[in-house]
Amino acid sequence: MDPTAIQYNQFATFNPLFRQMNRSIIDTLQKYSDQSGKTQLTIVEYGAGPGVFTNILCKKFPKANIVAIEQNTENIESLQQFSRKNLSIIQRNMVFYEHSTPIDCAILRLSYHHIPDPQKRLLLRRIRKQLRHSGMVIIVDECLREYKNSKERLRREQEYHSYRIELAQNTNDVDYIQYQKDVYIQTLCPYKASPRVIIQQLRDSGFHKIHSLLLKTQKKSINDALLGHYCITARK
Ligand SMILES: C[S@@+](CC[C@H](N)C(=O)[O-])C[C@H]1O[C@@H](n2cnc3c(N)ncnc32)[C@H](O)[C@@H]1O
Repeated sequence: MDPTAIQYNQFATFNPLFRQMNRSIIDTLQKYSDQSGKTQLTIVEYGAGPGVFTNILCKKFPKANIVAIEQNTENIESLQQFSRKNLSIIQRNMVFYEHSTPIDCAILRLSYHHIPDPQKRLLLRRIRKQLRHSGMVIIVDECLREYKNSKERLRREQEYHSYRIELAQNTNDVDYIQYQKDVYIQTLCPYKASPRVIIQQLRDSGFHKIHSLLLKTQKKSINDALLGHYCITARK
Protein backbone atom coordinates (compact mmCIF):
# COMPACT_ATOMS: atom_id res chain seq x y z
CA MET A 1 0.00 0.00 0.00
CA ASP A 2 1.06 3.57 -0.62
CA PRO A 3 3.32 4.73 2.29
CA THR A 4 1.79 8.21 2.31
CA ALA A 5 -1.69 6.73 2.77
CA ILE A 6 -0.42 4.53 5.63
CA GLN A 7 1.28 7.49 7.32
CA TYR A 8 -1.78 9.67 6.90
CA ASN A 9 -3.99 7.06 8.52
CA GLN A 10 -1.57 6.63 11.43
CA PHE A 11 -1.29 10.37 11.96
CA ALA A 12 -5.06 10.87 11.65
CA THR A 13 -5.83 8.13 14.17
CA PHE A 14 -3.92 9.71 17.04
CA ASN A 15 -3.87 13.43 16.27
CA PRO A 16 -6.05 15.24 18.85
CA LEU A 17 -7.37 17.72 16.29
CA PHE A 18 -8.47 14.90 14.03
CA ARG A 19 -10.16 13.17 16.92
CA GLN A 20 -11.98 16.36 17.78
CA MET A 21 -13.13 16.71 14.17
CA ASN A 22 -14.36 13.11 14.24
CA ARG A 23 -16.31 13.76 17.40
CA SER A 24 -18.00 16.88 16.02
CA ILE A 25 -19.10 15.02 12.88
CA ILE A 26 -20.26 11.89 14.70
CA ASP A 27 -22.24 13.96 17.25
CA THR A 28 -23.88 15.98 14.48
CA LEU A 29 -24.84 12.83 12.58
CA GLN A 30 -26.18 11.22 15.74
CA LYS A 31 -28.35 14.28 16.42
CA TYR A 32 -29.60 14.21 12.83
CA SER A 33 -30.42 10.53 13.16
CA ASP A 34 -32.22 11.05 16.51
CA GLN A 35 -34.21 14.03 15.24
CA SER A 36 -35.25 12.36 12.00
CA GLY A 37 -35.88 9.03 13.72
CA LYS A 38 -33.90 7.32 10.96
CA THR A 39 -31.02 4.90 11.39
CA GLN A 40 -30.74 3.78 7.76
CA LEU A 41 -29.14 7.01 6.66
CA THR A 42 -27.41 7.51 3.34
CA ILE A 43 -24.16 9.27 4.15
CA VAL A 44 -21.81 10.33 1.37
CA GLU A 45 -18.26 11.28 2.26
CA TYR A 46 -16.72 13.52 -0.40
CA GLY A 47 -12.92 13.24 -0.67
CA ALA A 48 -12.67 10.33 1.78
CA GLY A 49 -8.86 10.06 1.56
CA PRO A 50 -7.17 6.84 2.75
CA GLY A 51 -10.21 5.96 4.84
CA VAL A 52 -9.43 6.27 8.51
CA PHE A 53 -12.51 8.39 9.17
CA THR A 54 -14.65 6.41 6.72
CA ASN A 55 -13.93 3.33 8.79
CA ILE A 56 -15.05 5.12 11.96
CA LEU A 57 -18.28 6.20 10.21
CA CYS A 58 -19.01 2.61 9.16
CA LYS A 59 -18.51 1.37 12.72
CA LYS A 60 -20.52 4.14 14.40
CA PHE A 61 -23.43 3.89 11.96
CA PRO A 62 -23.64 0.18 11.07
CA LYS A 63 -27.17 0.53 9.64
CA ALA A 64 -26.28 3.47 7.42
CA ASN A 65 -25.34 3.21 3.80
CA ILE A 66 -21.91 4.89 3.62
CA VAL A 67 -20.51 6.02 0.28
CA ALA A 68 -16.87 7.12 0.01
CA ILE A 69 -15.98 9.26 -3.01
CA GLU A 70 -12.28 9.65 -3.72
CA GLN A 71 -10.35 10.40 -6.86
CA ASN A 72 -6.84 9.34 -5.93
CA THR A 73 -5.93 5.72 -6.80
CA GLU A 74 -3.58 5.15 -3.82
CA ASN A 75 -6.29 6.36 -1.45
CA ILE A 76 -8.86 4.10 -3.12
CA GLU A 77 -6.53 1.13 -2.50
CA SER A 78 -6.17 2.17 1.13
CA LEU A 79 -9.95 2.58 1.49
CA GLN A 80 -10.46 -0.95 0.18
CA GLN A 81 -8.63 -2.40 3.20
CA PHE A 82 -11.56 -1.15 5.32
CA SER A 83 -14.03 -3.07 3.18
CA ARG A 84 -17.31 -3.32 5.10
CA LYS A 85 -20.81 -4.44 4.29
CA ASN A 86 -22.27 -0.94 4.60
CA LEU A 87 -19.54 0.80 2.57
CA SER A 88 -19.40 1.59 -1.17
CA ILE A 89 -16.17 3.04 -2.53
CA ILE A 90 -16.35 5.10 -5.70
CA GLN A 91 -13.41 6.58 -7.60
CA ARG A 92 -14.68 9.84 -9.01
CA ASN A 93 -14.16 13.59 -9.01
CA MET A 94 -16.53 14.65 -6.22
CA VAL A 95 -17.64 17.77 -8.08
CA PHE A 96 -19.33 15.65 -10.72
CA TYR A 97 -20.52 12.73 -8.60
CA GLU A 98 -24.24 11.98 -8.72
CA HIS A 99 -25.81 9.63 -6.23
CA SER A 100 -28.70 7.53 -7.47
CA THR A 101 -30.93 8.00 -4.40
CA PRO A 102 -31.48 11.00 -2.09
CA ILE A 103 -28.65 11.65 0.37
CA ASP A 104 -29.31 12.33 4.07
CA CYS A 105 -25.90 13.72 4.94
CA ALA A 106 -23.01 14.89 2.82
CA ILE A 107 -19.67 15.13 4.62
CA LEU A 108 -16.61 17.03 3.48
CA ARG A 109 -13.86 16.52 6.01
CA LEU A 110 -10.65 18.35 5.04
CA SER A 111 -11.56 18.04 1.37
CA TYR A 112 -13.40 21.31 0.69
CA HIS A 113 -10.11 23.23 0.56
CA HIS A 114 -9.02 21.03 -2.35
CA ILE A 115 -11.80 22.32 -4.55
CA PRO A 116 -10.78 25.28 -6.70
CA ASP A 117 -12.78 28.40 -5.83
CA PRO A 118 -14.67 28.60 -9.13
CA GLN A 119 -15.93 25.02 -8.59
CA LYS A 120 -17.02 25.40 -4.96
CA ARG A 121 -20.49 26.80 -5.60
CA LEU A 122 -20.99 24.26 -8.40
CA LEU A 123 -20.13 21.44 -5.99
CA LEU A 124 -22.42 22.84 -3.26
CA ARG A 125 -25.33 23.29 -5.69
CA ARG A 126 -24.90 19.75 -6.97
CA ILE A 127 -24.73 18.34 -3.44
CA ARG A 128 -27.83 20.31 -2.43
CA LYS A 129 -29.76 18.95 -5.40
CA GLN A 130 -28.96 15.39 -4.33
CA LEU A 131 -29.85 15.87 -0.65
CA ARG A 132 -33.24 14.73 0.52
CA HIS A 133 -35.67 17.34 1.87
CA SER A 134 -34.03 18.81 4.99
CA GLY A 135 -30.84 16.82 4.30
CA MET A 136 -27.61 18.13 5.76
CA VAL A 137 -24.14 19.04 4.59
CA ILE A 138 -21.26 19.01 7.09
CA ILE A 139 -18.04 20.78 6.16
CA VAL A 140 -15.09 20.43 8.50
CA ASP A 141 -11.89 22.07 7.46
CA GLU A 142 -8.89 24.14 8.38
CA CYS A 143 -9.92 27.63 9.27
CA LEU A 144 -7.70 30.42 8.07
CA ARG A 145 -7.72 33.77 9.80
CA GLU A 146 -9.48 36.52 7.93
CA TYR A 147 -7.50 37.87 4.97
CA LYS A 148 -7.88 41.05 2.99
CA ASN A 149 -6.99 39.74 -0.46
CA SER A 150 -5.70 36.68 -2.30
CA LYS A 151 -2.06 37.61 -1.63
CA GLU A 152 -2.66 37.68 2.11
CA ARG A 153 -4.68 34.48 1.90
CA LEU A 154 -1.78 32.68 0.20
CA ARG A 155 0.64 34.06 2.79
CA ARG A 156 -1.54 32.68 5.59
CA GLU A 157 -1.62 29.31 3.87
CA GLN A 158 2.18 29.29 3.49
CA GLU A 159 2.65 30.29 7.13
CA TYR A 160 0.44 27.44 8.21
CA HIS A 161 2.37 24.84 6.21
CA SER A 162 5.73 26.15 7.48
CA TYR A 163 4.32 25.78 10.99
CA ARG A 164 3.37 22.15 10.30
CA ILE A 165 6.93 21.40 9.22
CA GLU A 166 8.30 23.19 12.28
CA LEU A 167 6.04 21.10 14.53
CA ALA A 168 7.14 17.91 12.79
CA GLN A 169 10.79 18.85 13.30
CA ASN A 170 10.22 18.91 17.05
CA THR A 171 9.32 15.22 16.93
CA ASN A 172 12.75 14.23 15.49
CA ASP A 173 10.86 11.62 13.47
CA VAL A 174 12.60 11.69 10.08
CA ASP A 175 9.73 9.97 8.24
CA TYR A 176 7.16 12.28 9.75
CA ILE A 177 9.21 15.38 8.86
CA GLN A 178 9.52 14.12 5.28
CA TYR A 179 5.79 13.41 5.22
CA GLN A 180 4.97 16.98 6.25
CA LYS A 181 7.34 18.32 3.60
CA ASP A 182 5.68 16.16 0.94
CA VAL A 183 2.25 17.21 2.11
CA TYR A 184 3.40 20.80 1.89
CA ILE A 185 4.44 20.37 -1.72
CA GLN A 186 1.40 18.34 -2.72
CA THR A 187 -1.34 20.22 -1.01
CA LEU A 188 -0.33 23.85 -0.86
CA CYS A 189 -3.34 25.31 -2.55
CA PRO A 190 -4.84 28.74 -2.25
CA TYR A 191 -8.36 27.39 -1.63
CA LYS A 192 -8.59 27.41 2.15
CA ALA A 193 -10.90 30.05 3.50
CA SER A 194 -12.42 31.60 6.57
CA PRO A 195 -15.84 30.39 7.81
CA ARG A 196 -17.38 33.73 6.80
CA VAL A 197 -16.54 33.00 3.15
CA ILE A 198 -17.77 29.42 3.31
CA ILE A 199 -21.04 30.44 4.96
CA GLN A 200 -21.59 32.90 2.10
CA GLN A 201 -20.85 30.16 -0.45
CA LEU A 202 -23.44 27.93 1.26
CA ARG A 203 -26.03 30.74 1.25
CA ASP A 204 -25.36 31.48 -2.41
CA SER A 205 -25.92 27.79 -3.16
CA GLY A 206 -29.36 27.77 -1.49
CA PHE A 207 -28.54 26.27 1.92
CA HIS A 208 -30.13 27.56 5.11
CA LYS A 209 -30.00 26.89 8.88
CA ILE A 210 -26.24 27.36 8.68
CA HIS A 211 -24.32 26.82 11.92
CA SER A 212 -20.61 27.27 12.42
CA LEU A 213 -18.50 25.96 15.27
CA LEU A 214 -14.82 26.67 15.78
CA LEU A 215 -12.86 23.67 17.03
CA LYS A 216 -9.72 24.32 19.02
CA THR A 217 -7.69 21.83 20.95
CA GLN A 218 -5.05 24.24 22.14
CA LYS A 219 -5.49 27.20 24.44
CA LYS A 220 -3.57 29.50 22.14
CA SER A 221 -4.45 29.77 18.46
CA ILE A 222 -2.45 27.24 16.46
CA ASN A 223 -0.41 29.94 14.83
CA ASP A 224 -0.95 33.31 13.27
CA ALA A 225 -2.46 31.92 10.11
CA LEU A 226 -4.80 29.25 11.37
CA LEU A 227 -7.53 29.84 13.94
CA GLY A 228 -8.27 26.15 14.32
CA HIS A 229 -10.79 24.03 12.49
CA TYR A 230 -14.38 24.84 11.77
CA CYS A 231 -17.37 22.57 11.58
CA ILE A 232 -20.14 24.10 9.50
CA THR A 233 -23.51 22.44 9.07
CA ALA A 234 -26.28 23.54 6.72
CA ARG A 235 -29.66 22.23 5.66
CA LYS A 236 -31.23 21.93 2.24
C1 LIG B 1 -6.71 16.07 3.19
S1 LIG B 1 -7.51 14.69 2.46
C2 LIG B 1 -8.81 14.39 3.61
C3 LIG B 1 -9.19 12.95 3.66
C4 LIG B 1 -10.29 12.59 4.66
N1 LIG B 1 -11.53 13.21 4.31
C5 LIG B 1 -9.90 12.94 6.06
O1 LIG B 1 -10.50 13.83 6.64
O2 LIG B 1 -8.98 12.34 6.59
C6 LIG B 1 -8.40 15.33 1.05
C7 LIG B 1 -8.84 14.24 0.10
O3 LIG B 1 -9.71 14.77 -0.88
C8 LIG B 1 -9.43 14.15 -2.11
N2 LIG B 1 -9.89 15.00 -3.20
C9 LIG B 1 -9.45 16.25 -3.52
N3 LIG B 1 -10.13 16.74 -4.55
C10 LIG B 1 -11.02 15.78 -4.92
C11 LIG B 1 -12.01 15.69 -5.93
N4 LIG B 1 -12.23 16.69 -6.79
N5 LIG B 1 -12.75 14.56 -6.02
C12 LIG B 1 -12.55 13.53 -5.16
N6 LIG B 1 -11.62 13.55 -4.18
C13 LIG B 1 -10.87 14.67 -4.05
C14 LIG B 1 -7.92 13.99 -2.10
O4 LIG B 1 -7.50 13.00 -3.02
C15 LIG B 1 -7.67 13.61 -0.65
O5 LIG B 1 -7.72 12.24 -0.48
